[in-house]
Amino acid sequence: TTTDVAIIGAGPAGMLLSHLLAAQGVESVVIEARSQEYVASRIRAGVLEHSTVELLRSVGLADRLEAEGDEHRGIHLQWPGERHHLDFVDLTGRSVWIYGQTELQKDLIAARTAAGQQVHYEAADVALHDLRTEAPSVTFTDPSGEPHRVRARAVAGCDGSFGPSRGAVGADLRRTWERVYPYSWLGVLADVAPSTDELIYAWHPDGFALHSMRSSTVSRFYLQVPNSTSADEWSHDRIWDALAARLGHGQDGWELEPGTITDTSVLPMRSYVQTPMRDGRLFLAGDAAHIVPPTGAKGLNLAVADVALLAPALADLVRGDSRQADAYSDTALRRVWRCTHFSWWMTTMLHTGTDPFDTQLQLSQLRWVATSEAGATGLAENYAGLPIGF
Ligand code: FAD
Ligand code: DHB
Repeated sequence: TTTDVAIIGAGPAGMLLSHLLAAQGVESVVIEARSQEYVASRIRAGVLEHSTVELLRSVGLADRLEAEGDEHRGIHLQWPGERHHLDFVDLTGRSVWIYGQTELQKDLIAARTAAGQQVHYEAADVALHDLRTEAPSVTFTDPSGEPHRVRARAVAGCDGSFGPSRGAVGADLRRTWERVYPYSWLGVLADVAPSTDELIYAWHPDGFALHSMRSSTVSRFYLQVPNSTSADEWSHDRIWDALAARLGHGQDGWELEPGTITDTSVLPMRSYVQTPMRDGRLFLAGDAAHIVPPTGAKGLNLAVADVALLAPALADLVRGDSRQADAYSDTALRRVWRCTHFSWWMTTMLHTGTDPFDTQLQLSQLRWVATSEAGATGLAENYAGLPIGF
């Protein structure tokens, strides 16, 4: 097959890129290791920032999001004895939307299917070739064992943190930065109405807790747990007890309503950035180039921001103008490092450890963020998201 852009990975970055390219008249072929059902059912992020929603609206992908998603003005930030609401709309004029990544992924698949997008699911042995020439290609084997080669003008590596694209950037150029955190998250999905109108981020001596949601009948929670924890150690009773304690059940009359837990999983936390995000005709986007800890809800939004920059750059490139493609890595990395800092800051402010000096700094920082307009605005601006192209 010959196409304009070979896209590796059918996650949000890859599928949205194919949609944005098509809107500019650029053809692509998507190559994905897993099945369509698997990709559409992974439970992941839940918060869309302002510019993500604007972008989705501008390309006709926000109908179900606007009908079924929930617009939030801000978040609640709390520690024992205190809960404060930060109103992002008042502070910055920008809101966020609660809409599961699973739902966005389904919308992307539906839109691309309707448009006749070529997607090769269950591709094995995916390999990248001739990236430093003007005729790169991607090879893979389909489920019947037949080998394929997709020849393109450019390759977009949207294959997440375990795909082959990241490692295809030449060792002569590649540089990586990493921070591993000494805790993980236990993610919990429950069939129960949320006990809150907007998300609650809670600092607690037992560990951080987050009350999020997916709909009026489904709640999503996260608990800070040790890195060595397995989900088996967390019985449903233990989970509800920990959530009640950390989220402040009984405090000022607030109650946490328990319900049936339908899924639990342990998520490791790390920060990772690989530069540059381009080598020759290979361009990285999303988790293929960077990982953030989930505390600032940035991972999915960063993937969207990358492809919002990459799509016009690739459209120009295939038409012979390489200026935006040449600028892509540096431009994208400005936002990547901003989100990397913000995610690290939210993570280290909210997760508890053993150092009593750190604890006092965290509580002082939380109080400043929750009660000073300058402090609150800094959090709000980053959380609701900086404009694309920042
Ligand atoms: P992905 O969604 O990872 O998509 C990459 C795609 O490439 C996948 O479909 C994968 O199957 C495919 N692929 C991999 N290898 C190959 C190969 N060899 N060949 C072809 N295709 C390949 N962010 C938040 O903000 N909040 C959260 O709560 C949150 N929870 C998360 C939970 C988990 C378990 C994970 C993994 C991530 C979570 N994230 C969260 C991060 C967020 O989901 C990601 O940042 C987002 O999915 C990035 O999109 P992407 O398209 O770049 O990568
Ligand atoms: C969700 C995940 C996050 O990492 C976050 O900061 C807020 C919400 C969620 O999955 O709902």
